Amino acid sequence: MLVGNKTFIRPLEIEDAEAFYQWYNDQEVNLWSSGAWPQNTLLSKGEIEDRFFNPDSDEHRYAILDQQRELIGTIGFREVNIPAQSATLFIVIGNKKYWGHGYGPDALKTFLHFLFDQWNFHRLTLDTWDGNLRAIKAYEKLGFKLEGKLREARFVQGHYHDALIFGMLCSEFTRDS
Ligand SMILES: CC(C)(COP(=O)(O)OP(=O)(O)OC[C@H]1O[C@@H](n2cnc3c(N)ncnc32)[C@H](O)[C@@H]1OP(=O)(O)O)[C@@H](O)C(=O)NCCC(=O)NCCS
Repeated sequence: MLVGNKTFIRPLEIEDAEAFYQWYNDQEVNLWSSGAWPQNTLLSKGEIEDRFFNPDSDEHRYAILDQQRELIGTIGFREVNIPAQSATLFIVIGNKKYWGHGYGPDALKTFLHFLFDQWNFHRLTLDTWDGNLRAIKAYEKLGFKLEGKLREARFVQGHYHDALIFGMLCSEFTRDS
């Protein structure tokens, strides 16, 4: 278990699938995390298990808990490039009551410690779209740098939006705040 100031991070357990079913079929959660809604079809419980709890997946996904050990979100990385020691992060605080209360940055900071200091990553990438101000502020507060934009790469609620690419090098990670 990884310990942050207001979050804990642990490996996924199959019992987490019920919460994932709620989150990944929720309009607002999908809107902010991917910009995509409506989805073509809602995800069934079987699809949730196949997608998120598949041991053969190349995704490394963990659970975010609050201080009472309640499941509130998920964090992880994918697209690992071993020679470059790089990967792409993702984070979703799925329980909407927890948005805007600092849980996301706390979990990210804890996870960055783990990835830079224990996995020995050199570089981590994060992305979002230009309307997700909460995510942008959270990433910049942690020291991620905006490295580029994919112009009008996302289509959100009838409008094109830029996808934003953020990056952090191990040498840029501030460990003491
Ligand atoms: C993005 C996310 C991880 C941020 O975590 P969080 O715990 O909500 O972040 P914070 O509470 O620290 O808020 C981040 C910043 O946004 C600000 N903020 C909060 N609500 C806001 C809103 N509705 N609009 C704009 N800014 C907002 C906060 O004040 C804070 O800025 P500050 O540190 O300068 O005060 C979380 O909200 C989340 O998972 N959202 C849904 C999925 C998603 O967007 N995932 C990431 C994109 S792929």
